[in-house]
Amino acid sequence: AVNDSEVTPFSVPSYACQRRSTLKNHNAVLTDSLSLLAENAELSDEDGRGVAFRRAAAVLKALPSAVTKMSQLKGLPCLGEHSLRVIKDILENGASSEVESTKESERFKALKVLTGIFGVGSKTADRWIREGIHNLQQLRDSGQTLNRAQQAGLEHYDDIKQPVSLAEAEAIRGIVGRAVASVSPEAQIVLTGGFRRGKLTGHDVDFLITHPEEGSEVGLMPKLVSWLESQGLLLYQKTTRNSYLEGSEGPGRPPSNIDRFERCLSIFKLSAGQTGRGVQSEETAASPSAAERRWRAVRVDLVVSPISQFAFALLGWTGSKLFERELRRWAGHEKGMSLSSHALYDNKQGRYIRASSEEEIFAHLGLEFIPPTERNA
Ligand code: GTP
Ligand code: MN
Ligand code: MN
Repeated sequence: AVNDSEVTPFSVPSYACQRRSTLKNHNAVLTDSLSLLAENAELSDEDGRGVAFRRAAAVLKALPSAVTKMSQLKGLPCLGEHSLRVIKDILENGASSEVESTKESERFKALKVLTGIFGVGSKTADRWIREGIHNLQQLRDSGQTLNRAQQAGLEHYDDIKQPVSLAEAEAIRGIVGRAVASVSPEAQIVLTGGFRRGKLTGHDVDFLITHPEEGSEVGLMPKLVSWLESQGLLLYQKTTRNSYLEGSEGPGRPPSNIDRFERCLSIFKLSAGQTGRGVQSEETAASPSAAERRWRAVRVDLVVSPISQFAFALLGWTGSKLFERELRRWAGHEKGMSLSSHALYDNKQGRYIRASSEEEIFAHLGLEFIPPTERNA
């Protein structure tokens, strides 16, 4: 039949890393709802439930058109009983009662606000909520001891919750590029994260830095951070040393997924003139200081990788988070391999597999190459 597209079930491969997920989404109402439930689960330390909702949302994002009938979902992977109930509710009633009540719950709202502070995770937020702290003013009044990251996060809260534009990301790329060039002329820098996937906004700007000569990347991060600090460009930074040693996990043992690159989590001071479009912060009467200021705070992540691990680092830091998780699950469950942002390890052969490009890594994993702009799972 020609006209039965509405009842023909969609077909989607089960791992997100087998699919091409662009930024186009024909099912945003459904995926926003499932993502909200995922976020609520993650904020409540229920990671398993969180992943289940994320996977379900990613399957709907991959569909070529809007879902209108439950029968279209027959045979689709990753749609559990709970997700199907939410979808059914929305298709039949226009909204999911569970999503609406979660959205309105005081606990969810408080968790969102408190974990929106840079440096505050769900465990800290949960403790504060149990102590009666539900918003920023109550936190300020409580006399809670904040660490350096949390103090900076609270101070720059309004700026940091404001999405970073592509123009701002490019301005910061220019600044960091000049900084890298002046401390190590041969070093290379790549924009990773959401902006590499073609997103037009982000919650931060992510960079990966390497040096064409193995070993010459050592010591680069401290020099880079000093240079940025000397120019007054950093409102906050915390650098973590590289702690990765290939094979250090014991002979014949797969490497852990934990990332051990030298990295710097920072808050940049971006001047209005540097974007050429003025500060992006809202200049409202409620925040007159933002209107008078000629700069805004932007979260920036810097990672340094040796060239031998660069392809793995690039793949690992481009995201999306779910795409990365699915790549590692595919490697482990389907190929008997362990993938991290440092290396690919063949568990059966007990050896590392080299790669110098993302294309090679996909090939080693037996996957069709998916370009960054199609990794928006
Ligand atoms: P927005 O910043 O909101 O636009 O999204 P994003 O996709 O850029 O997310 P984020 O900046 O949080 O992370 C970018 C990529 O880095 C994602 O693929 C993450 O999986 C990855 N990433 C973040 N933190 C870590 C980490 O500690 N280790 C490793 N290996 N990867 C990380
Ligand atoms: Mn990012
Ligand atoms: Mn980041």
